[in-house]
Amino acid sequence: MSEPVSTEHTLEDLIEQARQAALNSYSPYSHFRVGAALRLSNGEVVTGTNVENVSYGLTICAERSAMVRAVARFGPQVRVDAVAVANLNQAASPPCGACRQFLAEFIAPDAPVVFPASDGMRTMKFRDLLPMAFEMKLE
Ligand code: THU
Repeated sequence: MSEPVSTEHTLEDLIEQARQAALNSYSPYSHFRVGAALRLSNGEVVTGTNVENVSYGLTICAERSAMVRAVARFGPQVRVDAVAVANLNQAASPPCGACRQFLAEFIAPDAPVVFPASDGMRTMKFRDLLPMAFEMKLE
């Protein structure tokens, strides 16, 4: 008999969890409230939100804060198989370049990433969002 198809943590569910996470955003400078939800290969979902800093440059995005939480909770072998990003500002917010490179460390290349685009929610494979991630290959 084949495995039952899990209906848990669909992309719709991940988007909702990202929205919930955005409610906790600490964004007194930009007022841009972002949330991210990562579905892990172990079936768990970990969320994060953006946390700004008066220095501006020390601000951490929602995607990276979720990734840091996932590693802290499940360890260095953690793998991401889907990502949702949401914001409470009715604006586009694809993951920034720094977050793409940060996720590249842990995410499957064909993992779907769903985010608010200018024309509504868009889903792209991670490999298409970051086709040439930095990698370090030493002799
Ligand atoms: N931000 C994110 O949380 N994720 C992104 O991918 C881009 C930007 C946050 C950082 C900052 O707190 C606010 O959005 C405005 O840039």
